[in-house]
Amino acid sequence: MIPRVRPYFHKSYINSVNEFESSIEREQYQNRISQKLDRYYPNAEAFELFDYGRNSLAVGLSILGFQENDEILVPCFTCSTVLESIISKNLKPVLYDIEFDFSVSIDKLERKITSKTKAIIVTHFFGIPSNITEIKEFTDSKGIFLIEDCAHCIGLKIDNIVLGEIGDFSFTSFGNDKPLSIGNGSLLIFNNQEYLSRFYEIIPTIELNDEDSEKCSFLSLLFFYLNTDKSVYHNFIGVYDFYHYLMMNKSQVNSIYQELKKKDLDIPTLTQSLSGFRSHKLVLSPFRKIINYFIRDRSKRKREISQPKRMNCFSMNILNSAIDHVDEVNTFRKRIGSYYIENFLSNDDIIAPTSQTPFLRYSIISKKPRKTAKVVKDLKLGGYECGNFNWGQPLNKFLKTSERFENSEYIAENIINLPCHFDIEENDVSKICEIVKSGYM
Ligand SMILES: Cc1ncc(COP(=O)(O)O)c(C=O)c1O
Repeated sequence: MIPRVRPYFHKSYINSVNEFESSIEREQYQNRISQKLDRYYPNAEAFELFDYGRNSLAVGLSILGFQENDEILVPCFTCSTVLESIISKNLKPVLYDIEFDFSVSIDKLERKITSKTKAIIVTHFFGIPSNITEIKEFTDSKGIFLIEDCAHCIGLKIDNIVLGEIGDFSFTSFGNDKPLSIGNGSLLIFNNQEYLSRFYEIIPTIELNDEDSEKCSFLSLLFFYLNTDKSVYHNFIGVYDFYHYLMMNKSQVNSIYQELKKKDLDIPTLTQSLSGFRSHKLVLSPFRKIINYFIRDRSKRKREISQPKRMNCFSMNILNSAIDHVDEVNTFRKRIGSYYIENFLSNDDIIAPTSQTPFLRYSIISKKPRKTAKVVKDLKLGGYECGNFNWGQPLNKFLKTSERFENSEYIAENIINLPCHFDIEENDVSKICEIVKSGYM
């Protein structure tokens, strides 16, 4: 089966791990990465790297220095971790509804503004640029901050606008289901010159991540990648599940690394060992242990809210290799997206995005709610895992508020994400589109 998401993975990542030298100073990694980032974000004032996107957001909020109960506007349909970051800073999230093309209505925003509104978070959903310049004019006129959630896009310049450079700050995510994955991680892009001294004051006070946790992150990427090969894939694997299992069993992590180091393994060997066919015994044993844990204890996993940690050298070393692939990742995803656009031109059963952009996933919205579940089922029967694989419920449900957000609620029920990753080819897109079209007949 073709999985809903599959991370990009390059063999140079394994080389980076094998050649990792802990004696190199963090500052050196930071300089190398910043130089590469300057190409994509030439006007940014400063960068910092963290363990998660949600934690880049939390740190950015601390830098801007709000008062307790100040209000932050948040799209009603987005990742609930965004809410957690706001609440962890004793701020109040105030939801706003989004549009069916994933843009923001200025009128709707206007109605949400109070004397306590201090910032708005705008998400470039699935890599589709939001109407960010219009929103920037609005936030400037109101004297409030603009924060760009770039979890779904990296290094994107569209119509001369660099996504991530318009807001006072923005953050990306390097999670397993994101455009550029290294397991976990995030880039904070800081653009507000006035607050730069606070940025430099606060950043050094934040703890560095420990090496074993970063090793768990990388292994979770590797496992996720191997397990989403279409030859072995059956069912959805939680994006963070491997990571949590490895963290619960940190003692095994180093033995797996020893195996990786000893054997100079390549991806086909690893894939083979994982699928259990003609297995490479040395590799299989540690992997099998982890997989067994994964299957047995999955339901016991608890999600805990972590304190922000700055990315440390082990992950930075992999990121340094990964950044070299940003253009390749974006070009590929944009090409797949353009096939979807072509196939869905003037289809009246769905709302289909039309931006020529590197999609994280190609997200259509069913105009016939009674058919949504059927189309998703047809796709699965056809060998394609599709559906709402973002956020099952809008955030008003999550916060248990009675206020209605019609569009967000409709989208949460009727979005169908179509895969846009590296195992998708033009003929897959044609088949997926055929199944969708016939599902509505
Ligand atoms: C839109 C959006 N914002 C923020 C995040 C949080 O990123 P992270 O998982 O790196 O904390 C996600 C992650 O799923 C996301 O999809």
